[in-house]
Amino acid sequence: MELQTERILITGVLGQIGTELSSKLAEMYGKENVFGVSLEDPSRAEGAALGLYQQMDVTNTQALNSFIEEHKITTVYHLASLLSGTSEKNPLMAWKINLDPLLNLLELAKDKKIAKIFWPSSIAVFGRGIPKDNVEQEVPLNPSTVYGISKLAGEKWCEYYHNKYGVDVRSIRYPGLISWKAPAGGGTTDYAVEIFYKAIEDGKYTSFIKEGTAMPMLYMDDAINATLQLMAAPSENLSVRTSYNLGGLSFTPEELAAEIKNIMPEFEITYEPDFRQAIADSWPSSIDDSVAKKDWGLKYEFNITAMTKDMLVNLKKKLASA
Ligand code: SER
Repeated sequence: MELQTERILITGVLGQIGTELSSKLAEMYGKENVFGVSLEDPSRAEGAALGLYQQMDVTNTQALNSFIEEHKITTVYHLASLLSGTSEKNPLMAWKINLDPLLNLLELAKDKKIAKIFWPSSIAVFGRGIPKDNVEQEVPLNPSTVYGISKLAGEKWCEYYHNKYGVDVRSIRYPGLISWKAPAGGGTTDYAVEIFYKAIEDGKYTSFIKEGTAMPMLYMDDAINATLQLMAAPSENLSVRTSYNLGGLSFTPEELAAEIKNIMPEFEITYEPDFRQAIADSWPSSIDDSVAKKDWGLKYEFNITAMTKDMLVNLKKKLASA
C-alpha cells in the first residue's frame, strides 16, 4: 500500500549515490513519484529516472520547502553533501551544506510536512581513541575532519529529533562507495573509484593513498540494497537513530591493485600520497556492522573479486560508448 503513495525527493540526485538510487526507486515506486534536485544544470539530468528534476541549491530553504509542498513529497533521501577532501578545503561551507538543509528537513518532519527522511553519515565520524579494526556501533566518536564533525553533529540531530519529536529519520554510516555509473567527487576513499578509470584509460594509476592503508569500502549495488532495506524496515525494529555502522569490505590500495592485475596483468600502481592520507589515517580499517544485520537484515553480495570484475566490465563498456 505504502508503495503506491510514497512521493520521493532525492537531493544531490545526480551524484554518485543519487544516480543509482533514483533508478532503483523509480522501478519500485514509478518514475512519476521520484523527484530530484541538485546544483547541476538540467541538461545533466536528461535520461535520469525522475518524474521531475529541478536545479536547486538545497541551502535555499524557501525553494526546497516550496518544492516539497508543491509536489506533496512524503519521503526525502537527502544526499546533497560535500565529501571529506572538499570539506577540508571549505570548512565553513561544508558545515553549512552538510548541516543546514538537514535541520530544515528535520523541522519539516517534526511539523508532519514530510513523513520520512534518509540521511547518509559516514565512517568519517570515527577518529582517535578506538581500535582501527572491527569498530563497533557504540564507541567514542572523535572525528578530526570537518566532514566527520559535520556528520557526527548531523547524527546527533537525527537522534534528537527522533527521541524528542518522533521524527522517522534513518541513517547509514557509509564506507567508501565504489561504482561505475556516476563518478564520485572529493572523497578520500575515491582512489578506489579513480583506479578503475585509470586502469582502463592508461593501464596505470598513481594513488593518493599509500600502501598499507586499509579502509572500509562497499560496492554501490550493496550500498543501495542496504539503504532500501533500512528504509523498508519496521520503525520499531530500529535500535539506532544516530546512524548504522556498515562495514562491507576492507582493503588496501595494493590489494585492490592485485585484484585488477588478475584481470589486467599489465596494470601498474604507484603511490603519491597527498593531504587525504592524513584523513585516511584517522579513519578505521574495518567496521563491525552486526547491529544492522540484527535490526534490519543487512547482507552483502559483492566481495572484492566480484566487485573488481563487475567494475571493469561495466566501466569499459561505459567508457567505450562515451
Ligand atoms: N567516501 C567518503 C569520503 O571519502 C567517506 O564517507 O569522503
